[in-house]
Amino acid sequence: MCLNPITAGLLLIFLCHDVLGQDDPVQAFLAQHWPAAIEPQGKVDDSLSQLEKSLDPAACGACHVQQYQDWQTTLHSKSMGPGIAGQLVEMVHSDPNSADMCWSCHAPLAEQKQKIFKPMAGWVDNPVFDPDLQKHGMFCAACHVRQHSIFGPPRKTSPQVTGKIDADLPHRGFNADIAFTRSEFCKGCHQFDEDDFALNGKLIENTFNEWQESSYAEAGVQCQDCHMPDRRHLWRGIHDADMVKSGVDISVDLPQKAYARGDWINAVITLVNSGVGHYFPTYLTPKVFIKGRLIDSDGHELIGSLQEYVIGRESYDLAVEAYDTRIPPGEQIQIAYQYALPADDLQLQIEVIVDPDHWYRRFYQNYLEDGGGGRGRTLLLEALRQSSESAFSIYKQSFVLNSDSTQ
Ligand code: HEC
Ligand code: HEC
Ligand code: HEC
Ligand code: HEC
Ligand code: HEC
Repeated sequence: MCLNPITAGLLLIFLCHDVLGQDDPVQAFLAQHWPAAIEPQGKVDDSLSQLEKSLDPAACGACHVQQYQDWQTTLHSKSMGPGIAGQLVEMVHSDPNSADMCWSCHAPLAEQKQKIFKPMAGWVDNPVFDPDLQKHGMFCAACHVRQHSIFGPPRKTSPQVTGKIDADLPHRGFNADIAFTRSEFCKGCHQFDEDDFALNGKLIENTFNEWQESSYAEAGVQCQDCHMPDRRHLWRGIHDADMVKSGVDISVDLPQKAYARGDWINAVITLVNSGVGHYFPTYLTPKVFIKGRLIDSDGHELIGSLQEYVIGRESYDLAVEAYDTRIPPGEQIQIAYQYALPADDLQLQIEVIVDPDHWYRRFYQNYLEDGGGGRGRTLLLEALRQSSESAFSIYKQSFVLNSDSTQ
């Protein structure tokens, strides 16, 4: 049985499966907490203070200072940024069905959705729509508030106590459920269902399954353990250099000898997915470039010496998969840099560059071509600018070729 078989959408399809597993208390909670469409919050208890009544993240932040400060630095707080907002300007009118699907992951509360579907009338203006809340994207209330009641994990100090806790606390206490501490909590937005869009037989979004098949799931290491350490609301990922470095080990093996002109350089670069709980990277939107080149004593690249290897899943048109070189958890790749040394005083430089928005940048460029983008054009130009500035280096080392030292 499926809760709401009429609405289309990615979240729903996954939830149909979850409802089947209702005897599992985590699944049963999540089917309630993350339905295909979250109901409006409804009437608020008037005896509460203004601060407790508000859904605004700054109101929660007045008391939960740390969570609020952390959240503001994350992509969850920017999930209605210019890249999606720019597309929605036209889509809300031309294709509200798709717009609704985007909101289900990027701004999921009823109060964040501009249009709602009424069986007789079709897509109409949503009476509870609040444009300010929509801008906050994946904000506190999206994960924690249903029918104006607060839901959260059990207290750290009493992990076994679940259910309604202390109605005398602010916002009449809260409902504690262990589902908040489980990877399943993140699944609805970070995993497609098996019937969803796939390329070359592999789902476009498969993070939860990748994790489930890994040794991390077996060891009980949840998404939260890496992405919310000590319950911090950090959600660092492929856009953060330190996070990426924490998940991979990079080493270069260059036979040590005095290289002479004409000798073959034969370096092996090893990159291990040593700490990512899913494929590195998990989506097809980022690319990671391993670059080897020869540089002279002034740091200039020797023309023709650049060799490049790309880690990622390539399908610009989402119709054909060109390649998939992502690295599963615990596995590694080895790349050879081979070149006959053409001159003296050269160094081998190895660099690893992460380009987290590689797919989106090309997408925006295409969208904006010939004056495209309609009324969302200004926003999409901003998204293109941001996606052009997000690449960073996680490894850069030069190896002297005519002695046995590195620098
Ligand atoms: C007036 C201060 C105040 C405001 C405003 C407030 N909270 Fe709280 N909140 C508290 C206090 C105090 C607790 C109880 C902490 C405890 O005793 O464990 C709490 C508990 C919680 C918990 C449960 C913590 C746990 O251990 O699982 C969550 C989740 C939560 N609040 C989220 C929110 C959200 C989301 C908002 C905004 C919609 C919000 N709060 C607004 C003060 C506040
Ligand atoms: C209701 C949907 C939803 C839920 C639930 C959700 N996320 Fe997200 N998450 C998103 C969206 C949408 C983005 C992309 C935001 C953007 O860049 O526009 C995102 C981004 C992220 C990123 C940053 C990715 C990057 O590119 O660096 C991480 C990490 C992440 N989420 C982890 C989690 C974890 C862990 C959980 C569970 C505790 C979770 N998410 C729950 C929707 C969700
Ligand atoms: C199943 C959940 C889901 C749905 C549905 C969804 N997204 Fe996303 N979206 C994500 C996640 C997770 C990310 C971050 C990972 C990534 O970069 O691919 C993301 C990233 C993005 C980004 C890049 C980051 C940013 O904010 O600029 C854009 C643009 C975007 N989505 C637009 C859309 C649009 C438009 C729709 C509707 C047609 C949509 N998304 C539907 C989950 C979803
Ligand atoms: C993407 C979903 C998501 C969003 C957005 C989110 N939280 Fe949470 N929050 C969680 C999860 C999941 C946990 C439990 C983490 C764990 O157990 O490791 C949690 C835990 C908490 C706790 C308990 C902390 C503790 O130390 O016991 C509080 C309080 C809280 N959140 C408040 C907030 C506030 C305030 C905001 C907005 C500024 C917010 N959350 C935004 C998912 C979210
Ligand atoms: C063992 C630690 C670990 C676990 C468990 C883990 N992650 Fe990650 N995750 C990382 C690291 C490290 C990165 C940065 C490297 C990367 O992007 O692959 C990352 C990146 C991401 C990204 C950025 C997008 C991308 O293309 O890589 C998202 C989204 C994400 N994780 C979501 C999740 C979700 C959802 C879960 C649970 C199903 C999860 N992660 C479990 C460590 C972990």
